[in-house]
Amino acid sequence: MASVQRAVAVLLLACSLAPTATAWVSAHNITAFLNGHPEYKLYNKYLTETRVCDEINTRAAVTCLVLTDAVMATLVSDAGDELGAIKNALRLHSLLDYWDMKKLRALPDGDTLTDTFYQAAGNAASSHVGGVKMAKLDGGGFGFKAAASTGDTYDATVTKALKQTQYDFAVLEISAPIEFDGLFDVPNISNVTKLLERAGCKRFAALVAGTTGVLAAYQGAMEKGITLFAPSDDAFMAKGAPNVDKMAHADLVALLLYHAVPSYIPRASLKLLKSAARPLRTLASTASGQYNVSVVARGDDVSLDTGVRKCRVADTVLDDTPVCMYTVDKLMLPVELFADALAAAPEPAEAPSPVEALSTSPPAPPPADAPSSEEVEPADRKHKNLKASSATAAAFRSIGAFAAAVCSFLLL
Ligand SMILES: *[C@@H]1O[C@H](CO)[C@@H](O)[C@H](O)[C@H]1NC(C)=O
Ligand SMILES: *[C@@H]1O[C@H](CO)[C@@H](O)[C@H](O)[C@H]1NC(C)=O
Ligand SMILES: *[C@@H]1O[C@H](CO)[C@@H](O)[C@H](O)[C@H]1NC(C)=O
Ligand SMILES: *[C@@H]1O[C@H](CO)[C@@H](O)[C@H](O)[C@H]1NC(C)=O
Repeated sequence: MASVQRAVAVLLLACSLAPTATAWVSAHNITAFLNGHPEYKLYNKYLTETRVCDEINTRAAVTCLVLTDAVMATLVSDAGDELGAIKNALRLHSLLDYWDMKKLRALPDGDTLTDTFYQAAGNAASSHVGGVKMAKLDGGGFGFKAAASTGDTYDATVTKALKQTQYDFAVLEISAPIEFDGLFDVPNISNVTKLLERAGCKRFAALVAGTTGVLAAYQGAMEKGITLFAPSDDAFMAKGAPNVDKMAHADLVALLLYHAVPSYIPRASLKLLKSAARPLRTLASTASGQYNVSVVARGDDVSLDTGVRKCRVADTVLDDTPVCMYTVDKLMLPVELFADALAAAPEPAEAPSPVEALSTSPPAPPPADAPSSEEVEPADRKHKNLKASSATAAAFRSIGAFAAAVCSFLLL
């Protein structure tokens, strides 16, 4: 239930955010600005590590409430030194509106509620919980507190206005962190299987859970950062998909490890990787660089090129530093395992991928329930074949697709 409420909250907030975000070109850079102010070095470091700087830099009308190093150190300690928890706090300190001293002086008496990036990220079950309240204080000055905080006092007061670019970008120093009970809660990502199932990747989840060593390898990489590309249930049924039930154990392990990259790559960063000449190392990669994968992007469309086929990165299932999960529309077939298919049928330009020929070639017979269709399939036809296999999957997928679209709006 909570997750549905959360999804709805994300959608509602996202709807109100998207139009402003798309119509606007970035003019400020919080990282560059704070680089010139060494007293906020720690704050700046965590903005970068959590990539919250990208969210701030791609939106108009934002106010950053920053903390000096000594104050930031208490926040980091309150957050248990955990990056995901610190990210929540940094998002709470990033207001979705422009507030300079002039606007603060014009505040009405009593509390004024303002929205934050924390809500936009879908952390708050109710939109009020992740907001921030501000007020003119009796003794002069301005105070901030979490909307969810139960206390009456405004512990965080404005100590300095560092930057006031009208209606676009304000940076204010405050005296104390803004916190509330639950701010540092992060999703329990210890159960990868559950997360994958919820994203419409039941088949992949079952393989990961049922193939010795794979889940442990994923979980081992999780602490330092992992990005998972999970094929949707449809991907296993698609024309050209190998029959995973008939694969040798070692090959299956390699195939599953190939679907994970041992670093945290949120969508905005993934798009930037296309220009890097170097392919990405996967969990299956060898020292000599076998089982690497390349990122290709055209506009907002990001794909992974395995050397055998290109797999489109579809929905964002989870983006929680240092773990990112996406769905992909096809199984990622490494050239090291499926080169035969490539040699047997070299890829003609703009034609279906050569592995699609696999469904009629002996090494990997089609699954019994694979749809039989003509040899050459127009691209639009293929999309129709990828229709959801169940109402639930479709519901999850549409929520996920929308969230992914929203993500790219916000991050653009
Ligand atoms: C912001 O500034 C930092 C530091 O100068 C730089 O590394 C980064 O690429 C800039 N970001 C954008 C979006 O220009
Ligand atoms: C997360 O879930 C696992 C089992 O799925 C459980 O063992 C663990 O205690 C949970 N952690 C938290 C912080 O709830
Ligand atoms: C993880 O989730 C799956 C599916 O919901 C469940 O079957 C399994 O027992 C869970 N594992 C743990 C360790 O909680
Ligand atoms: C594989 O990827 C790693 C990491 O980017 C890189 O150092 C290596 O050169 C790549 N190897 C090949 C053969 O592409």
